[in-house]
Amino acid sequence: MEKIAILTGAGMSAESGINTFRDAGGLWEGHDVMEVASPQGWAQNPELVLDFYNQRRRQLHEVAPNRGHQALTKLEEAFDISVITQNVDDLHERAGSSNIIHLHGELFKARSTVKEELVYEWKEDIEIGHTCEEGHQLRPHIVWFGEAVPMLQHAAMEVNLADIVIVIGSSMQVYPAAGLVGLADNARQIYYVDPKPSINYELSQIADLKVIDAPATEGVPEVIEDLFK
Ligand code: APR
Repeated sequence: MEKIAILTGAGMSAESGINTFRDAGGLWEGHDVMEVASPQGWAQNPELVLDFYNQRRRQLHEVAPNRGHQALTKLEEAFDISVITQNVDDLHERAGSSNIIHLHGELFKARSTVKEELVYEWKEDIEIGHTCEEGHQLRPHIVWFGEAVPMLQHAAMEVNLADIVIVIGSSMQVYPAAGLVGLADNARQIYYVDPKPSINYELSQIADLKVIDAPATEGVPEVIEDLFK
């Protein structure tokens, strides 16, 4: 069975109603990204950071996977799939994908600020005073700017072993995630689905890159049709 690594970014969930970061003009729901998504931001104003992610978490209860997420699950009938997502939503899970690596964490989880290994399922707001079992404040289980990406090695291995790579809805600007596609040494085909594709250095090195200039709900079915041809 051929192996496919699917790399998804914010554009994957745009048609579910979750705003992408860069399409919002560099402000993330009205905030400087460093204010709400960095260890410095957390140190300066943890209430603001919790509130920001509480709002994102509440929104996640209101949205649903789109036809792009759903279409990807069809590939599991014929290929060995791993979905490597930069998204912190659970829309791939809800659509039914089975092998998902969250590079940047998960909105529906909370973790201890001191004991990083203490991670909890968390569907509601996180407040100041919510603590882990050892009494330390909880924070969102999100990889912030400037933090290590613990799932990177695992993701790198999946991309390196892939016969086919599909990149969907990412501006390919945030490293190290954006560099993963450069590790696809064994891939016979690489697709990039995005209505405003931006070809970073790694993508520019791929000779036969197939760019599908379309939103995920249209572009993903096109890729699937091509793969089942
Ligand atoms: N379908 C597919 N792609 C879309 C759609 C759509 N309907 N709408 C927008 N896009 C594309 C945009 O053209 C853009 O290339 O989605 C991309 C979104 O880019 P970013 O907002 O930069 O998202 P992403 O690449 O996932 O950012 C990486 O940066 O915001 C931080 O940590 C956060 O994981 C995130 C990381």
